[in-house]
Amino acid sequence: MSFDFRIADITLHEAGRHQIRLAEHEMPGLMALREEYAEEQPLKGARIAGSLHMTVQTAVLIETLTALGAEVRWASCNIFSTQDEAAAAVVVGAHGTAEDPQGVPVFAWKNETLEEYWWTASQIFLWPGADEDPQQGANMILDDGGDATLLVHKGVEFEAAGAVPSATADDPYEYTVILETLRSSLAENPKRWTGVASALRGVTEETTTGVNRLYQLANEDQLLFPAINVNDAVTKSKFDNKYGIRHSLPDGIMRATDVLLAGKTAVIAGYGDVGKGAAEALQGQGSRVVITEIDPINALQAAMDGFQVAVLNDVISTGDIFITTTGGKDIISADQMQQMKDKAIVGNVGHFDNELDIAGLAEIEGVEKVEIKPQVHEWVFPNAGGRSIIVLSEGRLLNLGNATGHPSFVMSASFTNQVMAQIELFAKSHKADYSGHDTYRNGVYVLPKLLDEKVARLHLDALGVGLTELTKEQADYLGLDVAGPYKPDHYRY
Ligand code: NAI
Repeated sequence: MSFDFRIADITLHEAGRHQIRLAEHEMPGLMALREEYAEEQPLKGARIAGSLHMTVQTAVLIETLTALGAEVRWASCNIFSTQDEAAAAVVVGAHGTAEDPQGVPVFAWKNETLEEYWWTASQIFLWPGADEDPQQGANMILDDGGDATLLVHKGVEFEAAGAVPSATADDPYEYTVILETLRSSLAENPKRWTGVASALRGVTEETTTGVNRLYQLANEDQLLFPAINVNDAVTKSKFDNKYGIRHSLPDGIMRATDVLLAGKTAVIAGYGDVGKGAAEALQGQGSRVVITEIDPINALQAAMDGFQVAVLNDVISTGDIFITTTGGKDIISADQMQQMKDKAIVGNVGHFDNELDIAGLAEIEGVEKVEIKPQVHEWVFPNAGGRSIIVLSEGRLLNLGNATGHPSFVMSASFTNQVMAQIELFAKSHKADYSGHDTYRNGVYVLPKLLDEKVARLHLDALGVGLTELTKEQADYLGLDVAGPYKPDHYRY
């Protein structure tokens, strides 16, 4: 079998395969889907363009998609998050060798430049023959953060306009890279993205930030295909975002810096699902946690959970560790970073790096950037007696840049939702060859609650959970079916 791919080092595949084997043991939801759908092959005919952190857990996701019949091309959704051994194992496949890879085309390596990153994002759409006949190309996107979806939408927009605009001085550097990527693609094929969009049945989106982008597109009537919001499955956001970060945030800080967290003052911006997990983790390590929030409901929650809630400027010079979790932008300015204590640690776990003004840091005259090790940088301020701060992963997701992201068990719940969303949309998108009932139109949907409950159910045995069964009488009294769903859609958990 021969196919194109680009990864760091294919000889790492055995190390990756060992880790995948252990991860499979910790991902009961995905393994149960492989068993349930082995014969039916519900993803046969699906060609999935995937853009999601190329980790060991994602390798198990990819191999579940292919076990259900899909073909896949994959890139990471972050320049630092790829585990090179996992990428190698996915390319080689369970039965291939480094000389004769039998797996899946992956375009991802740890430490990509932005130019390389957007090149990899385009590669997942360049299926053999697709430029000539888009129906041979991707018909599904599996996205995390919305970059793959953005590329298609921008491509279609610029093709309709007949040209790619020039960046303005206010545009972030990354946007100029996106424009350049699309400019060269337009030169190769002026109708590439229109073709890609015409063949796409839909996208399933993993995270809060990507979901926000989808709702914006849908509200402006710009969404080109249906979307399933995987993030807002309860078994995704209330587990991955919270318990996942509770594990991988301290892991990232510790691997990067080895500082003792006990007794330190940790300032966490945002008390949503990710912020709650972050706060609990650092409190568990004995840090004194301070929360900043803009939403009075979340601020009140934080206060009643026992945390100090303050505005950033009031704690800027007393905090030892600053972590942003908002999904917003401009949360900590370069000016505020200069007011921090000597050797304060600054990092972000929100999806994009614009929560911290790293570009602004670089513009400070006389500032010095010292690489302590990859993804750990000391920024030494001029005229401050050698005072410096430590910035993790250059402001990008530190739990994936400095550590290996969330552990397998919690990603199993997230990815079980992803696979079910792919099955659902592939079969029932209005762009699918399907004439049944529940057709998905161009809009954003969440999975039915019964599927959410199924995802949870698939993870109970592994934890030895004894689940109480409703009696028929109890179910009638509550107005429920014994088999679920057990809560109305508006229930908040
Ligand atoms: P969320 O919407 O539940 O929470 C974000 C919170 O930040 C909200 O309560 C909001 O009011 C608050 N906020 C917004 N602007 C703020 C500001 N200027 N100052 C202080 N607080 C502010 O979202 P969720 O699910 O917690 O996700 C947050 C981010 O983390 C998103 O970008 C998401 O994509 C990302 N994420 C990252 C993961 C990782 O592994 N690092 C895992 C899951 C999500």
